[in-house]
Amino acid sequence: MKKKNLIILGIDTSCDDTCAAIINNHTVLSNIVRTQKIHQKFGGVVPEVASSLHLQYIVSVVNNAILKAKIQTNAINAIAFTNYPGLNGSLLVGSAFAKSLAMCWQIPLISVNHIQAHILSHFLEGVHSTPPNFPFISLSISGGHTNIIKVKNFLEIKILVSYNDISLGNLFDNIAKILGFKYPGGRIIDKYAQLGNSKTFFFNKPKGKNLNFSFSGLQTNFLDLLKNQMKKNREFIYQNINDICASFQETVFEILFDKLNQTVKKTGIKNIVFSGGISSNLGLKKFFSEKSIENNWKTFFPQLEFSTDNAAMIALVGKLKYERNLFDKFYIKH
Ligand code: KG4
Ligand code: ZN
Repeated sequence: MKKKNLIILGIDTSCDDTCAAIINNHTVLSNIVRTQKIHQKFGGVVPEVASSLHLQYIVSVVNNAILKAKIQTNAINAIAFTNYPGLNGSLLVGSAFAKSLAMCWQIPLISVNHIQAHILSHFLEGVHSTPPNFPFISLSISGGHTNIIKVKNFLEIKILVSYNDISLGNLFDNIAKILGFKYPGGRIIDKYAQLGNSKTFFFNKPKGKNLNFSFSGLQTNFLDLLKNQMKKNREFIYQNINDICASFQETVFEILFDKLNQTVKKTGIKNIVFSGGISSNLGLKKFFSEKSIENNWKTFFPQLEFSTDNAAMIALVGKLKYERNLFDKFYIKH
């Protein structure tokens, strides 16, 4: 079903951000994100609080997206919503809301995979002057996922590498908690790391030929180093915070590079596309910009607005599925 202009409402309530956006083809008309700051107090996302706040915010967030886009509701061709992966209760709110609106307005409903949406955020208008060519390798790094994915075309993806214990976002947020930063602390680690020397401390990297990522060993090793140093000097963290953050980040980047490099060697694909919250990390961009020159890779990073959770990316996958008649029934799970 090809239409000249497709106007799609996207909804994402996969974790703790209530998101709604309107796109016209690949152009973002509005992109509203309401972050639930209350989770900072608990040092992590509390699923029941998240779903309850989604319920409280969703009407105004969707309404703001429509108002900001300056469109009439009858111009919307379809509603796309995240149905997987995410926190169950949170997903249910977006899903029930999307289904009700689609029934009420009698327009198609389209379910969207959140990871796929992060990857395809690179194809929103204005993100790149020239978007990546297919096939490409995606490194999808966030709180909810850590994957290396082969992307054959818009809708055909294959997960090559996953993670065994904690996601990279969990690792960043746990390390931040150990250092005394507020949740979610990934960005704060990055901020201090900019001023530090990454060669000051050395942490263990996973050994062996395990296919998947494993970050729990690095977390334990980090904690051990701090404990040992604090026995000698109680001010250790305070006095070395920049170097601790820079050295931790460097270890993570080396682990990511090692797996990506193996993937490039296996697949022969040198287009590397980063997505998910951690792809906004400044140290990561610098590290991989240098690696891509050394290894002749082409690397792509999304803009900050589209690297963390947002609904414009959900609407975009909705648009691509609409063009291929990939609609869902109202009784789809989530
Ligand atoms: O993609 P995202 O917004 O939500 C999920 O789908 O999980 O990712 C959130 C994660 C959090 O763990 C947060 O600490 C991390 O991304 N994050 C960062 C940075 N910005 C966000 N981690 C490291 N450096 C950053 N600059
Ligand atoms: Zn996400």
